[in-house]
Amino acid sequence: MTYYLFTSVMGRIVMPTVIPGPSVAEELDRTRVVPIVTIEHLADAPPVVTALVSGGLPVIEITLRTAAGLEAIRSSHGLGAVLGAGTVTTADEARQVIDAGAQFAVSPGIATDMVSTLVAAGVPVFPGVATPSEIMIARSLGLRSVKVFPVGMLGGPAFVRTLSSVWPDMRFMPTGGVTEATMRDYLAVPSVTAVGGSWIVPAGLIAERNWSGITQLAQRAADLAQEPT
Ligand code: 3PG
Repeated sequence: MTYYLFTSVMGRIVMPTVIPGPSVAEELDRTRVVPIVTIEHLADAPPVVTALVSGGLPVIEITLRTAAGLEAIRSSHGLGAVLGAGTVTTADEARQVIDAGAQFAVSPGIATDMVSTLVAAGVPVFPGVATPSEIMIARSLGLRSVKVFPVGMLGGPAFVRTLSSVWPDMRFMPTGGVTEATMRDYLAVPSVTAVGGSWIVPAGLIAERNWSGITQLAQRAADLAQEPT
């Protein structure tokens, strides 16, 4: 992430000064849990993002699974989060999320034009892999970080360990079936950067507008992530 400070001389913006901020990778290494958010009503996006940031999980994925997803990303900047787009499946969607200011993108699978569009724009992308062959495709596109999805169905932490024994330089983000009870088993695998999951942002709590409930779930996950594995 990069912050731009615009200096002004006699009311005119003259020169952007680039202040490097922590990268998405650095933030992921620090927080280690990515809440996966699906927004039905646009107005819910800012309070959900604020609740997660307050709970200590500022790296947030907002999915494109609903009509409100894209605008939810666009309208949630400036709240202290590192905002990513989830369920990005095509090059068109990649362009849309870049335009909406997504700071990273996640996909359930891998499509080369989608990945290339994001790479060309300098937006970190985590395509989903479920097989060794898909890791080989990701590597051929220059990627060394991928999501493993749906990891719970694929064999859990043991599956990720097996993949890392073949590709020790790959970093993995297991997602799909990860829970509060299992997240630490994944984080104990040395090549796992972070886990992703929707358990931190249940649809029921959003419907009730229970923002403090979401903060509590985020806080619990953030605390668990910091305990030694
Ligand atoms: C995803 O988008 O990666 C998954 O739907 C998240 O899976 P979960 O709902 O099991 O956490």
